[in-house]
Amino acid sequence: MPFQAGYKALLEQEAHRLYGLLGSVTRDNGEKYTAPDCLQIAPYTLAVNQIKKEQNAIILAHSYTLPELALGVADFSGDSYALSAKAQEVKEEKIIFAGVWFMAETAKILNPAKEVIIPAGKAGCTLADAITADEVKNLKKQYPGVPVLCYINSSAAVKAQSDICVTSSNVFDIAQRLPEKELIFVPDLLMAKNLENELVRRGTPKKIISAGGSCYVHKQYSAHQVADLRRRYPGIEVLCHPECLPDVCAVCDYVGSTKGMQEYVARSDKKLFALLTEHGLVNRLESAHADKTFIWPFGVCDYMKQNTLQNTLQALVAPMPAQKVILSEDVITQAKKSIQNMFEWTR
Ligand code: 13P
Ligand code: SF4
Repeated sequence: MPFQAGYKALLEQEAHRLYGLLGSVTRDNGEKYTAPDCLQIAPYTLAVNQIKKEQNAIILAHSYTLPELALGVADFSGDSYALSAKAQEVKEEKIIFAGVWFMAETAKILNPAKEVIIPAGKAGCTLADAITADEVKNLKKQYPGVPVLCYINSSAAVKAQSDICVTSSNVFDIAQRLPEKELIFVPDLLMAKNLENELVRRGTPKKIISAGGSCYVHKQYSAHQVADLRRRYPGIEVLCHPECLPDVCAVCDYVGSTKGMQEYVARSDKKLFALLTEHGLVNRLESAHADKTFIWPFGVCDYMKQNTLQNTLQALVAPMPAQKVILSEDVITQAKKSIQNMFEWTR
């Protein structure tokens, strides 16, 4: 039938487009995406991209989400800072946020008139879940007058209690620029120590008071593992995220946000890199730099991977209440101040 023949041709064309983006990308099971894989994915990417237009929706995706989402249907993909800046200026009616809950909340805070939907529903984050707004209030009582910096990986209620929100791409610079010699930084205990070390390295030491927890993906890497990588692959460049242990950061060639790592690889003339971070970022780099080799020891964020093409399609067509981000006006107003302060201090 002509309709079927037309759809088959469309599917083949879409599978070809996907293979161009995903053919050099390794799946979490260690296999590369194949042409038949792309043909299986094609009906979903076609449907999502079509319905997204009809519904005047935009898809924002964190770099850690599945490659078929970040590369196949996202209109914009990036790190937490870039996603926040983008969310703020969205004109479309609906934001489909492929990421974790605190990221979708941040988009809602920055653009409250939009409907914000997260396919993964209340997907957590071991950092955002490590501290409550009441614990931040207690810290403020304990250390009156000390500015509170909250990592963006925190709930809207925690942001509402904080003075400045920061991300891994600006935490070092903002902390250095602030005039105070003592700062509260929550909820990443490892990044707090990395921040303290970096400020010493820059010649502007400060006392960092912290509370919270750690990222269960990044805390797994060890300095011993870095030494092993260097032994096995002489000349390799080792990159890590500042959520890693301080003794890991101390022996890496570059420590930075997911965007920082992407930029480092893009400007480097080296061909071999080890990435101590979540697999999604490795996938983005494999797609963008087919001439470079990336060693990824392990590290998958199960929360990020709860976003799939299937639930993105479902969330576009008929979102469930748990997928819609609803925040009180009070929380939005208070939390927005800390994020706007971040934009101010980043300039
Ligand atoms: P980035 O802001 O560097 O993208 O990091 C977010 C995150 O959750 C890292 O684990
Ligand atoms: Fe949170 Fe870690 Fe997952 Fe990032 S990788 S979202 S910090 S649990």
